[in-house]
Amino acid sequence: MVVLANKVNYYKWGGIDVAFAWRPDLSVGFDEIDDQHKELFARVNTLLEATSQGKGKEAVGRTISYLGQYVASHFGTEERHMARSQYPEVSSHKAQHVQFTNEFSTIKKKFEAEGPTSQLTILIQRQVCDWLINHIGKTDKALGAFLRAKA
Ligand SMILES: [Fe+2]
Ligand SMILES: [Fe+2]
Repeated sequence: MVVLANKVNYYKWGGIDVAFAWRPDLSVGFDEIDDQHKELFARVNTLLEATSQGKGKEAVGRTISYLGQYVASHFGTEERHMARSQYPEVSSHKAQHVQFTNEFSTIKKKFEAEGPTSQLTILIQRQVCDWLINHIGKTDKALGAFLRAKA
């Protein structure tokens, strides 16, 4: 990992540098969820690149909605699996999704008011990237293990 001057942490991924990439140690052991996480990381990466490369407000705004839509549908997938399998940790897991959704809408409002500032890039890294790694690493992994055991 190299820290570049624009404060985005770049990772080597398939020979190229990307700002944010899914890693095999984040696998939850359940393909449908892993595939969605990979797509989620790709969309976060697109957003980080757009903000850090100084793309215009309209272009960055598109990547924010593109990510927001995917997050909502991904949480929906996990919540359907939790309901279907009568997952015992459903309420605390769902509460974390709600918390993220609220934080994301705060970021969106900040963007609408101020545009793609460097502060926004830092906020995305702290609140979106860190949250995802933490949530997937603990909460989603626990769900994945449960679904696998039930399968
Ligand atoms: Fe989750
Ligand atoms: Fe997830």
